[in-house]
Amino acid sequence: MKRILVTGGAGFIGSAFVRWQLRRYPTTHVVALDKLTYSGNRDNLKDADPQRYTFIRGDVADPETVARALDGCDGVAHFAAESHVDRSLVGAADFIATNVSGVNTLLEQAVALGTKRVLLVSTDEVYGSIETGAFSEDAPLKPRNPYAASKAAGELFGAAFHASHNAPVLITRGSNTYGPFQYPEKVLPLFITNALDGLPMPLYGDGGNVRDWLFVDDHCSAIDLVLRKGTPGETYNIAGRNEKQNIEVARTLLQLLQAPESLIRHVRDRIGHDRRYAINDEKLRALGWRPKTRWEEGMAETVRWYQENEWWWRKIKSGAFKEYYARQYDHLLDG
Ligand code: NAD
Ligand code: DAU
Repeated sequence: MKRILVTGGAGFIGSAFVRWQLRRYPTTHVVALDKLTYSGNRDNLKDADPQRYTFIRGDVADPETVARALDGCDGVAHFAAESHVDRSLVGAADFIATNVSGVNTLLEQAVALGTKRVLLVSTDEVYGSIETGAFSEDAPLKPRNPYAASKAAGELFGAAFHASHNAPVLITRGSNTYGPFQYPEKVLPLFITNALDGLPMPLYGDGGNVRDWLFVDDHCSAIDLVLRKGTPGETYNIAGRNEKQNIEVARTLLQLLQAPESLIRHVRDRIGHDRRYAINDEKLRALGWRPKTRWEEGMAETVRWYQENEWWWRKIKSGAFKEYYARQYDHLLDG
């Protein structure tokens, strides 16, 4: 591909995908479109060669902006989203505007311009919670929080555009992703940066909820493979095959940071908290994909990155994030 559009390119996974494309394909030009909401950050692209990408600040739900960004692109990887479950539990209007209307706008413009590959980045959360076993791609969608519902709705627009307009839509459903540049509202960077300041790690409920962890570069390599080699109209799970209870994750972090167990603070549970996510990725593996980063390496690299890049996260945590944190963890701050 000579030119590709990455929406949400200044967010956590989108910016990693921009860097990944530039590293892997020396002749590809990347267009990054991002509204720069609270979680979008130009600092995330500081390591990307400015000659090789164009940044457009704009809303993926705005047709003219999307048409301009998409013009001349062979394909698009669509990451732009409201991405945090806890925020969606407080109010979901922005989630509907971006994760549903935004997808519709992107699809309409892609059809109008004849874009050859349209990949929608979705999530394992659309299946809902599972006690044992793992969901395959044909399992019913049973989202259980507003964020997951908005992602499922976006996916359904993708499927409908494929069926009705023959749009070349591909969908990926990735599991919990971690690595450098992740906004510190998400559990891993929140726990790491809190612990670095000697602050508690607020562990929801009994800490027994299970997530399947995937290193960010492995998520990027899977999305790239599906974008180039996947079959339009198909959906691909991207698993880490690395299930951990949240309490185990917290303890691993404490070990890496050489911080005391007393930093773990059990707090009231997330409402409707999904107990376990698990997906079957045989379909993706049949395309030849394998994750490269072992959990121990990925965690060590991630912790090291936050230790060495205080400039990045302190700016965030001393800004508007403070208000969010006080609201979200008021019960913790009250003791
Ligand atoms: P993030 O919050 O770090 O990044 C989202 C980016 O989208 C931000 O840069 C933000 O400014 C941008 N954005 C938001 N609304 C926009 C709009 N209307 N127009 C243009 N840009 C807008 O999120 P992330 O963790 O990098 O997630 C990226 C994608 O991957 C999302 O679609 C998410 O649903 C999906 N996903 C995330 C994970 C995970 O564990 N983080 C796992 C599976 C799938
Ligand atoms: O599964 C993929 C999804 O993973 C993505 O689609 C989402 O965009 C991404 O945010 C993530 O959702 P989760 O809700 O799983 O991630 P979060 O980091 O918010 O929480 C991970 C687990 O940790 C979850 O069981 C809730 C728990 N948790 C979270 C926070 C923020 C805590 O115990 N304490 C916390 O303070």
